Amino acid sequence: MRFIHSIFLLFVGSEALRPLVVWHGINDDCAGFTSSLIAKIKTRAPDLYVHCIQIGDTPKIDYRNSLFMLGQKQLEIACARVNADENLKNGFNAFGISQGGLFLRALIQTCPPSEVHNFVTFSAPHQGIFGIPNCFKSVPAFLCRFISKSLTHAAYTPQVQKLFTPIQYWHDPLREEAYRQKSQFAAIYNNERNFNATFKQNLLKVKNFVLARNTEDEVIVPRESSHFAYYREGQGREIVNFTSTRVFKEDLIGLKELYDSGRLTFLEVPGRHMQSPYGWLEGITSDYFVN
Ligand SMILES: *[C@@H]1O[C@H](CO)[C@@H](O)[C@H](O)[C@H]1NC(C)=O
Ligand SMILES: *[C@@H]1O[C@H](CO)[C@@H](O)[C@H](O)[C@H]1NC(C)=O
Repeated sequence: MRFIHSIFLLFVGSEALRPLVVWHGINDDCAGFTSSLIAKIKTRAPDLYVHCIQIGDTPKIDYRNSLFMLGQKQLEIACARVNADENLKNGFNAFGISQGGLFLRALIQTCPPSEVHNFVTFSAPHQGIFGIPNCFKSVPAFLCRFISKSLTHAAYTPQVQKLFTPIQYWHDPLREEAYRQKSQFAAIYNNERNFNATFKQNLLKVKNFVLARNTEDEVIVPRESSHFAYYREGQGREIVNFTSTRVFKEDLIGLKELYDSGRLTFLEVPGRHMQSPYGWLEGITSDYFVN
């Protein structure tokens, strides 16, 4: 009986496994850190088909593009790649890591797959960032302050937006209006500039939207951004609940509808940004990537 049961599971498992689309973070590529995450997922689901979105022909170019290519341009390339993959034509589960979580959401909103079952983002800057990623580790503090100060004045000029991919999701709560009008990524896909109903309709195709964040994240500032919470407008200190943000209250991208219908899940992963998430990954693989 047990044997028959195993055979049955094997059969169902391999027949029904949805493919998984993965978008890696900044400073990474499909052959880097993300490949170790995919390997971990595969220890739980060896037969899983995984498409890691690579922007450019080689990992090296992909890595550079994660830092410097305009997010909108990356979306176009990603859309073409996903559409060209026959394995994905009936839909997929999705896993977006850090910047890749925000980008993968934008991809779903603008280049809709036929179906997205589970969409998991891990420490993604959904509401943007207001701080320099990795600054505290690799850059002297005075330089960090200088960059922050410069961004305060210049982040929303077209030249600076193009300089470095994360500046396109720089979200200055003291300059909400400038952010809405000038951000070349976050404000557009959060529907805060020109409301585009298609973005919302497409995100609502996701069956379960799972938002995970690291409890001690020091790279995504503020770390609550990964849960769609953010600084209160007009100041850079107090964090308001995601239900108090404009994106939720005006249901700009369907977040409220997802929440009200029980399709939004919030997870916390202990530790700093992307720190040894392997145990957690095994759990979410069983929960979200093999069904
Ligand atoms: C809204 O977004 C869709 C998907 O990206 C796009 O095709 C369409 O042109 C956009 N509509 C407007 C009015 O910008
Ligand atoms: C945020 O809002 C949700 C929904 O109203 C609520 O369940 C949760 O407790 C709130 N969290 C905080 C930190 O206020």
